[in-house]
Amino acid sequence: MTHARTYSGTLIQEPSLREQEHSRLARRAAAEGIVLLKNTGTLPLDLSAPVALFGAGASRTVKGGIGSGDVNNRSNVSIYQGLKDAGLRLTSEGWIEDYEARYHAARAAWKQKVLEAAKQVDNPFDAYSANPFVLPQGRPIVPQDVQGAAAVVYVLSRIAGEGKDRRLEKGDYYLSDSEWNDLRTLDRLGLPIVLLLNAGGPVELTDLLDVAVHIEAVLQLSQLGQEGGHAVADVLLGKTTPEGKLTATWARRYTDYPCAERFSYLDGDLEKAVYQEGIYVGYRYFDSFGVQPLFPFGYGLSYTDFSLRFAGLRVGSDAIEVDVETENAGICFSGREVVQVYISCPQNGGAKELRRLAGFAKTRLLAPEECQTLTIRIPQKQLAAFAPQKQGWVVEQGLYGVWVGNSSASVTLCAQIRVDAETLIERTHPICPLDHSLDELGAANAAQKEASHPAGLPVYGFCPQPQSLPERPAAPLAEGPVEELIPLLYGNITKGTSTLGSAGVRVPGSAGESTEELEASHGVPSLIMADGPAGLRLRQSYQVDRASGRVYGVGVLGSLENGYLETPPQHDNADTYYQFCTAFPVGTALAQTWDTALMEEFGRAIAREMEEFGVDLWLAPGMNIQRNPLCGRNFEYYAEDPFLSGTLAAAVTCGVQQSGRCGVTIKHFACNNQEDNRMGVDVQISQRALREIYLRGFEIAVKTAAPAAIMSSYNRINGVYASNSRDLCTVLARQEWGFDGVIMSDWNTTVPDDGSTPWKCAAAGNDIIMPGNPDDDADIRSAYAGGSLSEEDIRTCAGRVMALAKKLRG
Ligand code: BGC
Repeated sequence: MTHARTYSGTLIQEPSLREQEHSRLARRAAAEGIVLLKNTGTLPLDLSAPVALFGAGASRTVKGGIGSGDVNNRSNVSIYQGLKDAGLRLTSEGWIEDYEARYHAARAAWKQKVLEAAKQVDNPFDAYSANPFVLPQGRPIVPQDVQGAAAVVYVLSRIAGEGKDRRLEKGDYYLSDSEWNDLRTLDRLGLPIVLLLNAGGPVELTDLLDVAVHIEAVLQLSQLGQEGGHAVADVLLGKTTPEGKLTATWARRYTDYPCAERFSYLDGDLEKAVYQEGIYVGYRYFDSFGVQPLFPFGYGLSYTDFSLRFAGLRVGSDAIEVDVETENAGICFSGREVVQVYISCPQNGGAKELRRLAGFAKTRLLAPEECQTLTIRIPQKQLAAFAPQKQGWVVEQGLYGVWVGNSSASVTLCAQIRVDAETLIERTHPICPLDHSLDELGAANAAQKEASHPAGLPVYGFCPQPQSLPERPAAPLAEGPVEELIPLLYGNITKGTSTLGSAGVRVPGSAGESTEELEASHGVPSLIMADGPAGLRLRQSYQVDRASGRVYGVGVLGSLENGYLETPPQHDNADTYYQFCTAFPVGTALAQTWDTALMEEFGRAIAREMEEFGVDLWLAPGMNIQRNPLCGRNFEYYAEDPFLSGTLAAAVTCGVQQSGRCGVTIKHFACNNQEDNRMGVDVQISQRALREIYLRGFEIAVKTAAPAAIMSSYNRINGVYASNSRDLCTVLARQEWGFDGVIMSDWNTTVPDDGSTPWKCAAAGNDIIMPGNPDDDADIRSAYAGGSLSEEDIRTCAGRVMALAKKLRG
């Protein structure tokens, strides 16, 4: 029997050509994002010399974080598998075999624990996120395990994700006792050790690197998606020369991070987060306050060396271009270098960071002695600071330093830019006011160290250009009876609740849909939304009853971990549809490539999968700033620096949206920088830090790539929920930045008592409340009837939803 509707996916279980192509892209992207932090010459390894492989992540390599950022792909290549596929002989097969048994036992015990905990809570997702799986410890390493090995590879892994921040404890931010024991044992055995970090963010390594003298190489993998094991083999064996760079500072000690003790749960107050460090986030803090990091932002080694030569600077009307000649100065390996340009500002106005990233570019693959001249564009806004008293972005008068290098700590002052007159380049509106004063770092420090400029440097005059507000035509107001338009203001109401991933009906495993109520009457198609950012999050397979055409659903638990916690029953007389999506590297790993062309290619691949499965909006990229290494979702995000984050997100957006049929949803707008109490925490922050650090990346993405949608965050900012903030959704995004797409809320933000107010979402310009529930409808209707929500607000939001539906599906 045939049914009127079509089903997403395919009845064929074998890997498609697309799957194979995307696997290759995932492998290339993963290898490109690996950062070489240390190498005394052990790497690359010699394929003919056996290796001893240990660590929880050896055979159980963590492909990504958990929660909505997880991808239900077909299978993953572990580091163990990757090295075996490459033909490397391993001396530690016995240890790995023993580990596998421990792993399976630990998984089974964990499953029981989550299922038990799920009985105690309303939403099973809360039980899942509160109890992340912890990889078990392996058996103690004995000398026989390394017999015949020329080197040791040790994989240190961590799992973190949505709903819970990382713990400042052994086994998470710190090494566990058993990791210490393993590494001490291996150090005593005297073989060269290659340490691989397979975690969503930093693990403190300072003491280990001081003590374990045989750790000859360290690689920051992050979490590399389904092809991670192959990519690691490519880099370890020298098939690919490492070319990744850190996108966050790795401190020597956790307490070296600004506001370290006050982050999230650490000060016992989850109701508010005071952003006292102001603009001094990441390297901005470490550089300005002279704190030595373990590994600086932008840092990453190669198997070869590069030399950089400043080759000139051109001043344009609203940007500056810097030419840098980059040579592969080695003799053995081809490689690629990321050239970074930082700007130091005059310190005559408000205190500023010592230097900020203002532009970057990556070379092509350069053979030994080959040269390439890169032109790096610096938008004038990278010279500006937000001046609250002037209510705008100001380029101050004075001398700016142009620093060229390959990390934030390895830069050379090459030129100076002279600005003769202070210029207000953009006027802004006051947004998100704080009702009390904030004792911000740096404010009392106006005598912040100004970079000294030696005599004899070339000086270029630059005259900043004031910019007017962008003009983009607003979507027309929706026509028709207002009552009929209201369903456009929340998602398609489905039965059952979930904080993620299972509210979509038409594409099983998608996160949600806009309403279908106006499809027949007004011809407004419902838009289908699926998560990211490491790929497309759908159910890997689902069944359809042949007689009725009904799709068999799964609950929240069934939608997690590829159905490991709750295996869906197999139905008779049913067809099975497969939706094999690709698990690409996580956001941080992708960002570590610093490769905008690759990000765009990745975006095109995402769009291809979206079109294959019928998804209209991808709920990614995740653009929150990595303010503190303990944020549970840092793995989804790109960087501690907004310019890098915004530039990379813009590239992904261009890729996804290239065909015009798919859209991104940049998220979480804004300041979703912690996971514990993410739905209630009030971020208290100055307007300057908000604009310069936490909003700037969104601004870059909106202005340069016109994303189709924005997802507002759960948290409050200076007392107001982001999805209820007219300042954010309307004044800033639309009036100041010219955003012409749709703003949707994060999932279930309107929970009673501890959430945003439905009608205030519409009034703020947060067009759609996701995933939508009957209370949202009732609240909006009563606010309209009572006069607190205007007809114009409803027509405006509805008009934007209609316009986007037309654009993507019209
Ligand atoms: C997450 C979002 C995600 C949404 C839908 C929420 O819990 O915060 O990032 O897009 O669920 O799955």
